[in-house]
Amino acid sequence: MTEHEPFNASRRNFLRGAAVGAVGTAVTGGVLIGGAHADADAAKSGQSTTVESYPFHGANQSGILTPGPADKQPFSCFVAFDSTATSRAELAELMKTLTARARFLTSGGIPENLGISQPPSDSDVLGPDVPADGLTITVGVGASLFDERYGLTALKPAKLKPMTIFPNDSPEAAWMHGDLSIQLCANHPDTIHHAIRDIAKHTRGSMQLRWKIEAYGAPPRPSGTPRNLLGFKDGTANPTGELASDLVWAGPGEPAWAKGGSYQVLRIIRMLVEFWDRVSINEQEGMFGRRRDSGAPLDGNAEFDTPNYQADPKGNVIPLDAHIRLANPRTPQTANQRLIRRSYDYDLGLDQNGDIQAGHVFVVYNQDLERQFETVQTRLIGEPLIDYVQPFGGGYFYALPGVADANDWYASGLLS
Ligand code: HEM
Repeated sequence: MTEHEPFNASRRNFLRGAAVGAVGTAVTGGVLIGGAHADADAAKSGQSTTVESYPFHGANQSGILTPGPADKQPFSCFVAFDSTATSRAELAELMKTLTARARFLTSGGIPENLGISQPPSDSDVLGPDVPADGLTITVGVGASLFDERYGLTALKPAKLKPMTIFPNDSPEAAWMHGDLSIQLCANHPDTIHHAIRDIAKHTRGSMQLRWKIEAYGAPPRPSGTPRNLLGFKDGTANPTGELASDLVWAGPGEPAWAKGGSYQVLRIIRMLVEFWDRVSINEQEGMFGRRRDSGAPLDGNAEFDTPNYQADPKGNVIPLDAHIRLANPRTPQTANQRLIRRSYDYDLGLDQNGDIQAGHVFVVYNQDLERQFETVQTRLIGEPLIDYVQPFGGGYFYALPGVADANDWYASGLLS
């Protein structure tokens, strides 16, 4: 898919039905090849649909570009943990356990039978045969893991640091940072609940939940790219294909163990939806620089039209401080600042005033935190949209390199 090619829902069917073995599965372009007609066949025979699965082993973790932002799974959860491992060896054991659980959960299968005298090995939330259900588990490490506790300071990814607090942020300590992050994405919410519970149970004593937020990905309405909770199509101009790969994976200057990893930015951003709903459509569209109904740039007709800023140097059509114009000025100088957004919507209910507490978990993957995310975020500091959004949580993490094969484990290059 090119940057301007619309989302094609049938790609999801292409993934469906792929045999789920974690090892020895045919992989082309990071996508499992399987029975594309499994759904139809299953429907005819009255059986349940074949389970969908993404590769667990590989140079990169799944859940970043596999699947990519345009066809990511509809449910997600972002969790941060504090490590309570007391030594580097214990931290390595934790990573091995985490790997074993993620390998099983993302592949599916029958949980171990421990007999009747022990607590069962599985919660049975998904029944006796655990489906993979499109689950991806993406593990990251925070800057705090590289403090004095484990002697890892010299091996820290070059750009990793605690998340910067930007001028319009309203940081809440309980929702920020962490030694480890886990992004879980799947086709159903109970799959995510089951996975996080399984992981927490098996790693008890070595890591402690710090914060957790569940979120969902809206379907395309009516077509093209899904909308965020402000009603605008969000994700239209995401780089794809080779361009996405070039912008995401670790670049020069990183420690050798970090090859195949990516910087993950999690920003929990509340949207002040009641306030937003009182703004005129002209003003809303001027803030983004796109039409609300179609997602088209204000100087175009269709969602995937490319805005032409050169033809509008004074911002008469697309204001100079419009979100899309500041985020990506589309100049040769800013081309390597582009990033991959893979965000989800959240809803935490009501706040103390009875206002809706909802927004999005803004998720970015990029090669260089400073060159990409921080540069773009800094350009956005004064945008009009800031009156309607409130970033209050999240963190910077380094999404680990992929687990190469059945003998490998998360962060083996760092901890061996
Ligand atoms: C609540 C906060 C935000 C909302 C509601 C929001 C919404 C949107 C929308 C509707 C678009 C246009 C459609 C698209 O191309 O996806 C967009 C584009 C974009 N946004 Fe945001 N965004 C938010 C925060 C951010 C932040 C924090 C960054 C980065 C620091 C960012 C970076 C971008 C980029 C790079 C584009 C693509 C621009 C282009 O290539 O034309 N956004 N955003």
